[in-house]
Amino acid sequence: MIDYTPVVLPNIENLHEIDVYEKHGGYSHIRKALGMQPEDVIEVVKKSGLRGRGGAAFPTGLKWSFMPKDNEKPKYLAINGDESEPGSFKDRQIFEFNPHLMIEGILIAGYAMGITSAYIYIRGEYEKWVQMVEKALKDAYDKGYVGDKMKTAFSSDYTLNIYVHRGAGAYICGEESSLMNSLEGKRGYPRVKPPFPAQYGLWGCPTTINNVETIANVPLIIDKGAEWYAAIGAEKHPGPILYGISGHVNKPGVYELPSGMLLTELIYDYAGGLPGDKKIKMVIPGGSSMPPLRGEELEGIRMDAESLKAAGSAIGTAGIMVMDEDTDIVRILTRIAHFYWIESCGQCTPCREGTGWMLKVLHRIMDGQGRMSDLDLLENVASNIEGNTICALGDAAAWPVKFTVQRFRKELEEYIQQTSEVAA
Ligand SMILES: Cc1cc2nc3c(=O)[nH]c(=O)nc-3n(C[C@H](O)[C@H](O)[C@H](O)COP(=O)(O)O)c2cc1C
Ligand code: SF4
Repeated sequence: MIDYTPVVLPNIENLHEIDVYEKHGGYSHIRKALGMQPEDVIEVVKKSGLRGRGGAAFPTGLKWSFMPKDNEKPKYLAINGDESEPGSFKDRQIFEFNPHLMIEGILIAGYAMGITSAYIYIRGEYEKWVQMVEKALKDAYDKGYVGDKMKTAFSSDYTLNIYVHRGAGAYICGEESSLMNSLEGKRGYPRVKPPFPAQYGLWGCPTTINNVETIANVPLIIDKGAEWYAAIGAEKHPGPILYGISGHVNKPGVYELPSGMLLTELIYDYAGGLPGDKKIKMVIPGGSSMPPLRGEELEGIRMDAESLKAAGSAIGTAGIMVMDEDTDIVRILTRIAHFYWIESCGQCTPCREGTGWMLKVLHRIMDGQGRMSDLDLLENVASNIEGNTICALGDAAAWPVKFTVQRFRKELEEYIQQTSEVAA
């Protein structure tokens, strides 16, 4: 185990209460940011190396710099707390245990980009957490940290209003352009890009979308500096990460640790290994849409964007799903395929039809009617979805299937051999 003290989710009792948050320096970081030029705030975030925690690990400061500098149109910030990807459950820890850190991050981001309205989009099923965020936001408004009273509280001209919006249960609304359509009251269809949100976002105005965890890192960077942040964890993907570990481990949960942790260290030292000391068959390192890894090939793989890319997967949301040696891969894959089929919005043909075909073939295999050629068929359908769709849900649906077939081919062939009446 390493020597590390959590900073996003520090071990402070009742930190979700505004008085406690203030006692520990809360809302002094926005004060500090307001004393800087907006472009200098963006520079600090760029220098820190902060990368998005919503899935794509895109550099946050760079994203902010895409926003126009003029005020021709209103500018918006949308905070993505849809958190509907199976295996991802880390943003709700921030909602519950440190919501003011997120709110303060929104204020700093808003100031840096000249934004006057921000939305926190929260997964509809998270009713408990919606209420917690609403309570925190109300307390922040009452204290004058948000809204018109900011001028007095911070002796500054800057004001920002923040609104909470509940999703209605669709995974696709976590995709940023779909989230914007949903916020506008439209059907949650992803938009064709370009134009990108910084050019044409909410109501046709410049918009930035950031994940909850991403934005919660911002006050820490302003407080302790870009160099401090850049020195935590992996050089090209620094900072603390909330690793959500689930599946066949003795101590599932969310662990805040530096980026670049060894996957095996997280699973064995922090999450307590596997029940019954079983071997690992498969690990999906970043939420269900990321390419799965073989259990015996985890040695040396670190949890940062570069290391996982080199290992043939991706960091995604750092939601690590562990499956032991007894796991039925066909059942797992069918379950995952079912999720993406049902969540496909249906706009583009490869995703709408392909997700259905993959599911049908997997059901056929599970029902003892599989053929050896089904494995090539699955790979073929997945490859025809990948890269050919409006949004990344297509890839999310294709990758688990394509890479499981490629990396677990022997096991799948044995499965078909042993269960199928028509194997040949
Ligand atoms: C189907 C789909 C679902 C997504 N769901 C989420 C989500 O629940 N939360 C999130 O932050 N990003 C989600 N994303 C990624 C967002 O589109 C976007 O990249 C992210 O919110 C940007 O924030 P970041 O730069 O801070 O990571 C999803 C993407 C896709 C394609
Ligand atoms: S890839 Fe799938 S979810 Fe995304 S727009 Fe196309 S049909 Fe909809």
